[in-house]
Amino acid sequence: MDENPFKNQEKLNTKVEIAKREDWEELKKLRLFAIKSKDGHFFGVTDKSVKEEETQSEEAWNKYFFDNNGFVAISRYGSEIVGMGMAFKNNDEENFWRMRSNYLKPEFRKMGLGLKMFATTLNEIRKSGGKKVSLNIEVGNKESMGIALKFGFKIINSKSVKLETGEEFKYDNLDLENLDDPEVIKKIDDVLNAG
Ligand SMILES: CC(C)(COP(=O)(O)OP(=O)(O)OC[C@H]1O[C@@H](n2cnc3c(N)ncnc32)[C@H](O)[C@@H]1OP(=O)(O)O)[C@@H](O)C(=O)NCCC(=O)NCCS
Repeated sequence: MDENPFKNQEKLNTKVEIAKREDWEELKKLRLFAIKSKDGHFFGVTDKSVKEEETQSEEAWNKYFFDNNGFVAISRYGSEIVGMGMAFKNNDEENFWRMRSNYLKPEFRKMGLGLKMFATTLNEIRKSGGKKVSLNIEVGNKESMGIALKFGFKIINSKSVKLETGEEFKYDNLDLENLDDPEVIKKIDDVLNAG
């Protein structure tokens, strides 16, 4: 894949960690930036749903990020949050988690940060007792698919939903069956230890 020209310099100044409550405003900024950008389609949003998010209260944002049986993994560049990925415990099935809303600002892509946020998220799910993880990826999203397959996710089925605009949103449903699989653990550790 293409190299990011900022790679060496910028990577040194970024860190991947789990967001804290005081990060909510920076997270809100990034989420709105993401869904209003040309990448918005990856999240299946519509003009209406973007407006709803834009006008929601501080309480609603906090609930969205922090009071949902989950956490948000972030990439930080100085004080700015430039990347995020969310994970939630699925209440219907024990030890089953869902990942969603992975996003990195374009200038921070292709230098391994997406992979590191993904590994950090899987590691945190595992530490919280999670065994099985699922996620949806829009058909044609090679970057996300490449990362998910690397960690051992498998495509279970493909689905399509009709958005309010009438457009079809086609996505693949992927599962990682066993987070305790030694190969999966090794992959996560390798990425986290690579720096
Ligand atoms: C998905 C996203 C977070 C990935 O971040 P990133 O930092 O660019 O990814 P990385 O540099 O860590 O790439 C890691 C891996 O991605 C895969 N990948 C990246 N680009 C790829 C491409 N064009 N084709 C296939 N695989 C690709 C590879 O497995 C790569 O590993 P490699 O470097 O060993 O080849 C970023 O592209 C993004 O924000 N995209 C827009 C939003 C989005 O798609 N969200 C996901 C919704 S499910």
